[in-house]
Amino acid sequence: MRTIIYFSHATRPLSSADLIDLERECATNDGPLRLTGVLLHCDGRFLQLIEGPKGVMRDMWARIQADPRHERFQVVLDRHGRQRCLAMSGMRLIDLSRDVSGATFPAAFNEAAFASDARRALDALLAFCRAH
Ligand SMILES: Cc1cc2nc3c(=O)[nH]c(=O)nc-3n(C[C@H](O)[C@H](O)[C@H](O)COP(=O)(O)O)c2cc1C
Repeated sequence: MRTIIYFSHATRPLSSADLIDLERECATNDGPLRLTGVLLHCDGRFLQLIEGPKGVMRDMWARIQADPRHERFQVVLDRHGRQRCLAMSGMRLIDLSRDVSGATFPAAFNEAAFASDARRALDALLAFCRAH
């Protein structure tokens, strides 16, 4: 099982319809591929935790990185393990900017937090996902 967490920036503003399309794409592909995780969107930024079998992850990660909808990737975690970090079925999209205007990613799991203490930032992210 491989888990990747990364931040990226949208190349153009995404409407709720764009995000619904993206969610649909993920739902179509990720279930059958046994890919799971969470995709957070907030004011033109993405934070995705994606995990699944090694070979499937290699292909999907290449596809995601080639996607022109986003750029400036910053991988904050890339690890192999026996189990998934997050017990999810499929990919869940959470749009933080839809609920709160001017929202930002919770400070507990920004890039700097992952750089200084990845375990703690990951725990904060997992707790956030469980609570939403
Ligand atoms: C931030 C972001 C996250 C994405 N995550 C996934 C994902 O988890 N699963 C997925 O199938 N596609 C995801 N996509 C879409 C893929 O990049 C790609 O468009 C999709 O898999 C279709 O690929 P294809 O055109 O090569 O068939 C994501 C795109 C973006 C912008």
